[in-house]
Amino acid sequence: MVEEVIQRSRPPAAKHASRGALVRSMPRRLADIGGDVDERLPTSINELGRVLGGGVVPGSIVLIGGDPGIGKSTLLLQMSLDLAREVRVLYVSGEESERQIRMRAQRLLQSDGDNRVDKGKISGLIPDDLYLVTETRLPVIFEHVSEIQPGLLIVDSVQATYLPELDSLAGSVTQVRETASRLRDLAKTSGTAVFLIGHVTKEGTIAGPRVLEHIVDTVLYLEGDRYQSYRLLRSIKNRFGATSEVGVFEMRERGMVEVTNPSEAFLAERMVNAPGSAIAVTMEGTRPILVEIQGLTSPTSFGNPRRTPNGVDFNRLLLTVAVLTRRMGLRLADQDVFVNVVGGLSIREPAADLAVAAAIASSVRNQPVRAETVLIGEVGLSGELRTVSQMPVRMNEAFKLGFKTAIVPRRLRRAETWPEGIEVIEARSLRQALKQALIEDKG
Ligand code: TYD
Ligand code: MG
Repeated sequence: MVEEVIQRSRPPAAKHASRGALVRSMPRRLADIGGDVDERLPTSINELGRVLGGGVVPGSIVLIGGDPGIGKSTLLLQMSLDLAREVRVLYVSGEESERQIRMRAQRLLQSDGDNRVDKGKISGLIPDDLYLVTETRLPVIFEHVSEIQPGLLIVDSVQATYLPELDSLAGSVTQVRETASRLRDLAKTSGTAVFLIGHVTKEGTIAGPRVLEHIVDTVLYLEGDRYQSYRLLRSIKNRFGATSEVGVFEMRERGMVEVTNPSEAFLAERMVNAPGSAIAVTMEGTRPILVEIQGLTSPTSFGNPRRTPNGVDFNRLLLTVAVLTRRMGLRLADQDVFVNVVGGLSIREPAADLAVAAAIASSVRNQPVRAETVLIGEVGLSGELRTVSQMPVRMNEAFKLGFKTAIVPRRLRRAETWPEGIEVIEARSLRQALKQALIEDKG
């Protein structure tokens, strides 16, 4: 239940309406309307540019959501430092003091690559056209905007910003929605690109970014495990590019660092030939990423056996465990099952089913998965292996990273060809696949 406060008088809204009555809109020929597709501010942060669909579009409004502390402010400050070389940038913070932000900017610029830059030089590195202000009242922010005329406006965060004329609290649905729609109007009329930061909590709070998704042009989510360093920037909606595109970053002491080869990073600490580990290839947007899936089974000490997924869907895990029990005859009824996706990634597609099943079976049987092998495929309820999209792309990525074998569902059409270089083992069922995947115990 969300409280909606009814306003008795709404002076600015009334003014708006009267202006609307005077200034008539004019239908124009589509062909006569300007606007070039390539009119974008290019950012040198490629992973961000990729998710935005090529750069920042002037006059667009972008929402970037994520858990508190995940790195939203850091990423947007980095973007501001970068874009302030092209356009005037106004960074409005309702959460941190100007000094704090300045100190953060200093830290972000401090280690430029491997060379530490000394203090004197840093002031030189801070672009002249980056303006900061700590402000939470929206009308005041609008005044600053009309004074400074920025090409890019960052509002950190939408929950902290409010309209004094509304009775409800900052962060309430009414405030958040009203703030966002006024900022949208600002973006559309002035051509300023607006980035809004929005916090989501684990419960996916009502007053969070969800209510804003239809107001803005682009919705990005920054996600990842807070206690791990990898961060995924995902686009959920994008009026100017492809959705479900993903950028990968690592949170380091000098801010968000781009990860250009995520698979390599996710596999870096893998133990080869250890039971309970399997490699899956998941598609994040258009990009294949190899991840290690770990499974661990251990006898249940009392009560119901537990199924604990980290990075895979809970219901998907229950299904996989049920299939392993019924179709493979694995004894899991008295075992706790843990599944972990290494690196804090969370996998949403069923293409990782086979790897999850293999990791669990490998642990319970104490047999390692065949070395240098990736497992791709969806597992059906009858224990059949189903094909997934983009097989050749996934297999090519595995090959590029030095994997020798891929265990995959049987091709539907014989005419389909597998990529060169990698040995392909086709399996009809989970049983066949695991027979090939697990190394028999010789001892
Ligand atoms: P922040 O961008 O403030 O998160 P958000 O705006 O999403 O709430 O990032 C906060 C975390 O990031 C904080 O725990 C410290 C860490 N951090 C780094 O590890 N390195 C850095 O260079 C910076 C600026 C922050
Ligand atoms: Mg912040």
